[in-house]
Amino acid sequence: MKMNKTALNVALATAMLAGPAVAMAYEQGDWIIRGGLANVNPDASSDAISIPTSPPTVFENGVDVKDDTQIFVTGTYMFADNWGVEVLASTPFEHDIVLNDAPVDAGSTKHLPPTVVVNWYPRGGQEGWQPYIGAGLNYTFFWDEQVDSQLEGALGDIVGNDGPLPADLSLDDSWGLALRAGVDIPINDNWAVSASMYWIDIDTSATVSTAVADVDFDVEIDPFVYMLGVAYKF
Ligand code: NI
Repeated sequence: MKMNKTALNVALATAMLAGPAVAMAYEQGDWIIRGGLANVNPDASSDAISIPTSPPTVFENGVDVKDDTQIFVTGTYMFADNWGVEVLASTPFEHDIVLNDAPVDAGSTKHLPPTVVVNWYPRGGQEGWQPYIGAGLNYTFFWDEQVDSQLEGALGDIVGNDGPLPADLSLDDSWGLALRAGVDIPINDNWAVSASMYWIDIDTSATVSTAVADVDFDVEIDPFVYMLGVAYKF
């Protein structure tokens, strides 16, 4: 499933029509659990990839990283009426990686993006809808990086192999800034519809290793994460 801004807007509008009559306030000492679906949509940009043949074979536009949707949960502790600290967890995301300048699948990777942010609630302590914005730190680690057989076939052609050239892919972990925005629209005293997003600065260095040579290039993944679900306050 792919969520986009339109889906979020429709959900928000629906929730706002149903919402205003109910009394829900976030106050110091409250815990808020949010859960639902999260779409990680990379805004990827990549270094050129240069394969050391003579002359070098260069893929000017590097790779692109495709989107994926998974289940998320966040936990928030309100340490003041207007301020909460929020931790993000999710099921693992799996992204396809494609080569921009050639019609081949390059591979795929899994990742987990644990993130801690501090959010400001301008309407904290007041009843009704609860918008928030925040910022914090993300740590992303990648595993189970796979090289597609299409890329191995293309590499075999490039180096003049009699068949595919087996390759391994590894991606470095990333620390980066996370920005957060969202709104909870109350359904009753404890439950709310939750729509939110992150922008996360995820920059990694990729290494493709083969028997012939290792090739390194940097990839900025920098995804927008769109999230839709429910919030529960206690
Ligand atoms: Ni970046």
